[in-house]
Amino acid sequence: MKLWQKNTAVDPEVDRFTVGKDREMDLYLAKADILGSIAHATMLESIGLLTAEELRMIKAELCNIYRKVIGGEFIIEEQVEDVHSQVELLLTRRLGDTGKKIHSGRSRNDQVLLDLKIFTRGEIRSLVADVSALIDTLLVLSERYRSVLLPGYTHLQIAMPSSFGLWFGSYAESLVDDLYLMLAAYRVCNRNPLGSAAGYGSSFPVKRQMTTDLLGFDSMNYNVAYAQMGRGKMERTTGFALAGIAADLSKLAFDACLYSSGNFGFITLPAEFTTGSSIMPHKKNPDVFELTRAKCNLIQGLPQQITLITNNLPSGYFRDLQITKEIFLPAFGELGDCLRMTRLMLESVEVNRNILDDEKYSLMFSVEKVNALALSGVPFRDAYRQVGLEIEEGRFIAGKTVNHTHEGSIGNLCNDRIAELRDNILAEFKFEVVVQAEEKLICI
Ligand code: ARG
Repeated sequence: MKLWQKNTAVDPEVDRFTVGKDREMDLYLAKADILGSIAHATMLESIGLLTAEELRMIKAELCNIYRKVIGGEFIIEEQVEDVHSQVELLLTRRLGDTGKKIHSGRSRNDQVLLDLKIFTRGEIRSLVADVSALIDTLLVLSERYRSVLLPGYTHLQIAMPSSFGLWFGSYAESLVDDLYLMLAAYRVCNRNPLGSAAGYGSSFPVKRQMTTDLLGFDSMNYNVAYAQMGRGKMERTTGFALAGIAADLSKLAFDACLYSSGNFGFITLPAEFTTGSSIMPHKKNPDVFELTRAKCNLIQGLPQQITLITNNLPSGYFRDLQITKEIFLPAFGELGDCLRMTRLMLESVEVNRNILDDEKYSLMFSVEKVNALALSGVPFRDAYRQVGLEIEEGRFIAGKTVNHTHEGSIGNLCNDRIAELRDNILAEFKFEVVVQAEEKLICI
């Protein structure tokens, strides 16, 4: 039985096709749906659409359902369309007519919008924690190996001296920049669409500011038609932020695969962090980094996929939007897993301290020599030519020391500044407002 069913039963094939993967996908949204329903019911009581006793019973029952979700016992039944219908059904089974009152003043359109925002802001909170932990690891490694040199490449040709300090630190700073995008996505996400109903508001005197405050949102999406237009937009915006992090992890994973290959030998992964071959007994493969690379490349397609689903839709709700959930909701878990696995791998990576003893890297010190000559008064172009000739004639002798002192260079990594940037962004999220609001709503 559907919430909307009157006298005609829908064709089973149409039912199967339109419900699609919702019974599975909506489980991601169950906790959010319950939190939103508690806030909505509290508001309904304040405008006289529920009595105080009805609200008390609804809240208690919603909290019971919440506990079931946490315990993994909540399911969306065969004949039920989605999480919104399931929660209403459970309330009605337990509370009869009282349960049937909860949907006054809202539609599943603003309900799913709300659920997605509550879910997403929570997922952003946990991803930000994972990103921040990875930044910590990278900065610790950068400091630990600050004086271990590494060849730097351009065009994948040996170029100039780099260091493990630079390598690890570069990804830390890149992830800090990703947090700016994440903060922007969080701001777009953390605005309340509830009360927009089907996308055009309602004639009930709903108190939108009240549910906004109860749920700890920064503000509401004021214009009800815009609130509905936010479906897909919030996902796309957040998708861009996830894609930024994924791009970093994917690049780092490729570096790690390259550096751990026998031909490079810059890093070694302990045996227990590699996988073997069924035919070649010597193999120790960096599969974790390879899978991270592939998963993160897939995540980078998220904003494009969401764009494609929503691209040609005019304003207003369409069922097309349901499909965005299938690609959007599982992406957080995947990215979180990649972040944690990357951290685990990096923490046990062994660094080769003697890479530059190999003569094949000698030429990368040529720029050091040119610069030393220029500093002693030889015009740069003459110094460049002089060293170039020495190389061509086989007379070049590498100094093998680097003297980089400016900000952000091998000798002056500025890791403390990078950590400070990260801390400043973290403070801007103000997650505690949401955490406290949600804890206050749910009585478990
Ligand atoms: N499963 C739907 C979705 O994700 C929920 C909203 C249904 N609304 C409707 N008008 N059919 O979009």
